Amino acid sequence: MRILQVSSELFPVLKTGGLADVAGALPAALGAQGCEVRALLPGFPAVCASLRHAQKVGRFTTPWGEAIEVVLGDLPGIGTAGQALKTYVLMAPGLYDRPGNPYHDSRHQPYADNHRRFAALGWGAAHLAYGLDAAWAPDLVHCHDWHAGLAPACMAFWQSPHRVPTLFTIHNLAYQGCFDASCFAELGLPSAAFGVDGLEFYGQVSFMKAALVYADHISTVSPTYAREIQTPEQGFGLDGLLRRRAAQLSGILNGVDASVWDPAHDPLLPHTFDARRLAGKALNKAALQAETGLNPLPDAPLFTLVGRLTEQKGLPLVLGGINELVQGGGQLLVLGSGDAALEQALAAQAQAHPGRMAVRLDYDEALAHRIFGGGDITLVPSRFEPCGLTQLYGLKYGSLPLVRRVGGLADTVVDTDLETLDKHSATGFVFDDFDSAPYQRALRMAFALYRRPADWSRVRQNGMRIASGWEQSAMQYRDLYASLTSPT
Ligand code: ADP
Ligand code: GLC
Repeated sequence: MRILQVSSELFPVLKTGGLADVAGALPAALGAQGCEVRALLPGFPAVCASLRHAQKVGRFTTPWGEAIEVVLGDLPGIGTAGQALKTYVLMAPGLYDRPGNPYHDSRHQPYADNHRRFAALGWGAAHLAYGLDAAWAPDLVHCHDWHAGLAPACMAFWQSPHRVPTLFTIHNLAYQGCFDASCFAELGLPSAAFGVDGLEFYGQVSFMKAALVYADHISTVSPTYAREIQTPEQGFGLDGLLRRRAAQLSGILNGVDASVWDPAHDPLLPHTFDARRLAGKALNKAALQAETGLNPLPDAPLFTLVGRLTEQKGLPLVLGGINELVQGGGQLLVLGSGDAALEQALAAQAQAHPGRMAVRLDYDEALAHRIFGGGDITLVPSRFEPCGLTQLYGLKYGSLPLVRRVGGLADTVVDTDLETLDKHSATGFVFDDFDSAPYQRALRMAFALYRRPADWSRVRQNGMRIASGWEQSAMQYRDLYASLTSPT
């Protein structure tokens, strides 16, 4: 089965969050299941710089009259097998050749022509689905997040004797790609598409809604999030539509790419370790404390958070719990960037607690590895979380996740209590309500367990031994592709 994977990011070439990890890991994982996956990416500078053996395969003209060259090349060394990934790239310097973040400028303002930049991605996918490359055409197009959201609409209105099915995966419903209604004229879709049954959303154009209406199937990155987004609380205004499409909506959990995240073979760790040889973990902790200016206390539980500093990630709870954490004898290390107010508040707290709390307002892939490798607890107290990857990395690196019971966090972490300890199923700490009291109760539970080294080590072992690779999920995607390409 030939699959065209359409996304705006792909690790290790370009990454702003978990979407890139997933897009980078899936092709090889699906390859192991007998799928032939090629990627389609916009020609962002980082993508063009990494592409090898590029050859022109064709060109198409956007609805607003811009000619775009499509090239096919290799992105080297991606995925478990480390094989090159055949990738189509849209060469449109006027749209994509801008330094920095792929979505916004240096003042964090979305680019004014984002509707064109990502409509081009949608049309590029449609052209590839319907014959742009005479040598290769996909059996199915798998689109990720709103950036690729126009593709299912472009393909639904394509005049062709045969249909190529589409799967759209929601990684985060909070980001919808909404644009002024005036943009619709440039999208090249029939006027019928701009209605309540199409991509119109409260008077605007929504790329997310386009995908949810026109994709043959919708998936999201955990079974719990698939249910949550059908409720008004988590549906971001699209829950009604998602309820109507419930029969074509499912959740498939993300995995961990062991070629990138494995403490036994991680070249970014000062000391490697595994579930049976944990000495390296203690050495990593000491190195991390030294590197970040935390006091060299081997017995102080080191709480860590790696992530985008946004409301989603539960930073208000973390800020509100700092005193509890520090007074309990813990340390806190945060690596992240994002919301300016949150950055400032964290920096001020770090200044107020020298040696006890440190903050790195940065995006640093290697430091993230060292944090999972040296930390004791991985905080993910999210308000919502479609899947979440940092709790999975925490499990694998023996840094127990402390999470809210929501989305993919609820599906991947088992709370510690006497029963789960006894059954060897406990893997972390889980609290329910998005409120400071339950969050701080979970912190106290972490402290209590930490004071019982035998139990701590048992829970850590449970987490480190979980099989969290991509195999199971890739099999589920493969089965889903099969059902969509040969419907009964
Ligand atoms: P989301 O996609 O919502 O940002 P995930 O937990 O799914 O959250 O994935 C986040 C990914 O980005 C992880 O690989 C995490 O390690 C990484 N990451 C987030 N912030 C940073 C940062 N400041 N530095 C390095 N890596 C980061
Ligand atoms: C999104 C979600 C996150 C998920 C990631 C990869 O950015 O916020 O929960 O893990 O996509 O699917």
